[in-house]
Amino acid sequence: MSVKFSVNNSDYELQVTPMKRLLDVLREDVGLTGTKEGCGEGECGACSVFINGVVVNSCLVPVCQTNGTKITTIEGLSNNGLNQLQQAFINYNAAQCGICIPGMLIAAQALLDINPSPSRGEIREAIAGNLCRCTGYMKIVDAIEAAALGNRG
Ligand code: FES
Ligand code: FES
Repeated sequence: MSVKFSVNNSDYELQVTPMKRLLDVLREDVGLTGTKEGCGEGECGACSVFINGVVVNSCLVPVCQTNGTKITTIEGLSNNGLNQLQQAFINYNAAQCGICIPGMLIAAQALLDINPSPSRGEIREAIAGNLCRCTGYMKIVDAIEAAALGNRG
């Protein structure tokens, strides 16, 4: 089938197998490998992207369901270098192996978009669907909190 969508504000029309996972289409057909595969079964959040502004696990989405949508991946989180949130992850050494980090950043961005000054509890709740095997979460929460403090100026 032919599928048309926009990814990070660029338009694509691709010939794809309808049930191919969006995760694989993004990585293999669009060439954006920032979106990672962890579990491949909707449990870890590593493959998170925005579809029409909603965070979804791209490993669970057949590409046939994405026709006409607007998709944002980790590569599209900032148009101009690293945004405040991404820089905070670096400043706080919040990434170790890095597999979970694109999904963490998508989840954190989704939170800050609707709640620019979250509490630590709200941050923990927002990333509850994103599993990290390496960091123990503390530095990730610290980084998101720092980015939120930056929002307050
Ligand atoms: S790879 Fe999609 S949720 Fe884990
Ligand atoms: S940094 Fe390795 S899984 Fe999170």
